[in-house]
Amino acid sequence: MEYTTLGDTGMQVSRICLGCMSFGSSDWRDWVLDEEESLEIIERAIDLGINFFDTANMYSLGESERVLGEGLEGHHEESVVATKCFFRMREDDPNSGGLSRKAIEQELEASLDRLGMETVDLYQIHRWDYDTPIETTLGALDDAVRRGTVRYLGASSMWAHQFAGALHASDRLGLERFATMQNHYNLVYREEEREMLPLCENEGIGVIPWSPLARGYLARPHEEIDATARGESEEYLYEHPYREGGGPEINERVAELAEDEGVTMAQIALAWLLHKDWVDAPIVGTTSVEHLEQAVEALEISLSASDIEYLEEPYEPVPASGHS
Ligand SMILES: NC(=O)c1ccc[n+]([C@@H]2O[C@H](COP(=O)([O-])OP(=O)(O)OC[C@H]3O[C@@H](n4cnc5c(N)ncnc54)[C@H](OP(=O)(O)O)[C@@H]3O)[C@@H](O)[C@H]2O)c1
Repeated sequence: MEYTTLGDTGMQVSRICLGCMSFGSSDWRDWVLDEEESLEIIERAIDLGINFFDTANMYSLGESERVLGEGLEGHHEESVVATKCFFRMREDDPNSGGLSRKAIEQELEASLDRLGMETVDLYQIHRWDYDTPIETTLGALDDAVRRGTVRYLGASSMWAHQFAGALHASDRLGLERFATMQNHYNLVYREEEREMLPLCENEGIGVIPWSPLARGYLARPHEEIDATARGESEEYLYEHPYREGGGPEINERVAELAEDEGVTMAQIALAWLLHKDWVDAPIVGTTSVEHLEQAVEALEISLSASDIEYLEEPYEPVPASGHS
């Protein structure tokens, strides 16, 4: 396994982060693995040297965190665990979502309890909260760091001006600043290259892209997108800009290069991301041990400058996606 320093945190993380959105309970989404099968993937990830795991309170409404905590039993110290808050956890409780002090304090406590940990390595805000001043959110997050229940803070998809404002506010107020950005970035969604990624580079922010395989769109020919349970039901794959702005041609070029190199499409798509200097570790989602192994093997693929240019060439700008 290859490790890298996550932004300016000094923490060493595997260059593949295991995304845990597909672990927990099939009651939440039909493509999500229940406990036993989830544990098999987590166990294999540990064997492969993966030490970086990303979950969220809302994945399987807490079950993903519980199963991850279970899977990491005996490995908590050597793991870097990231979770998130923002989305509403209980329909009848408006304070179970958002980024108020109340929501952050209560949701963090619940997450730690499910994970079976006293401290989480990276606590991320899942989205921007338009109803809570960022100073209030930063104050509550800073207190969590001072209390020792959180080691580092992270943010997820938002506009670059919002992230720049949040970094400025924490510096102005002497509060803990966000150390990472978890954003939507892959070969068929590159809008983040305009503002967010250069901002992260300038500010020493660790970048951990979500949906690096475009939710499976880059892992098989676009004509076969509904070939899996998730492909059939994942609305994103149909409504999403992946099919616009050169998406199908990029998909075909990924397939062509994969065939030339004797590797899989998913491996080419991941290798492209791993060649981007501003990416620390893509967060890969999978329900298959074989696919997890392929992700790790992708670290060994070397793409030439002309391969990269060939993959990127058909891209055209698409509407912003992943946040509003
Ligand atoms: N912050 C946010 O707002 C946000 C949003 C979305 C996701 N995330 C995080 O990012 C993680 C990954 O996101 P994601 O699952 O949407 O995206 P992804 O990793 O781009 O795509 C996952 C899909 O690709 C397929 N796949 C993976 N490896 C493959 C391979 N080698 N061959 C063929 N198919 C392959 C998986 O199928 P199999 O299951 O069959 O392998 C699954 O359907 C999540 O677990 C979560 O931690 C965060």
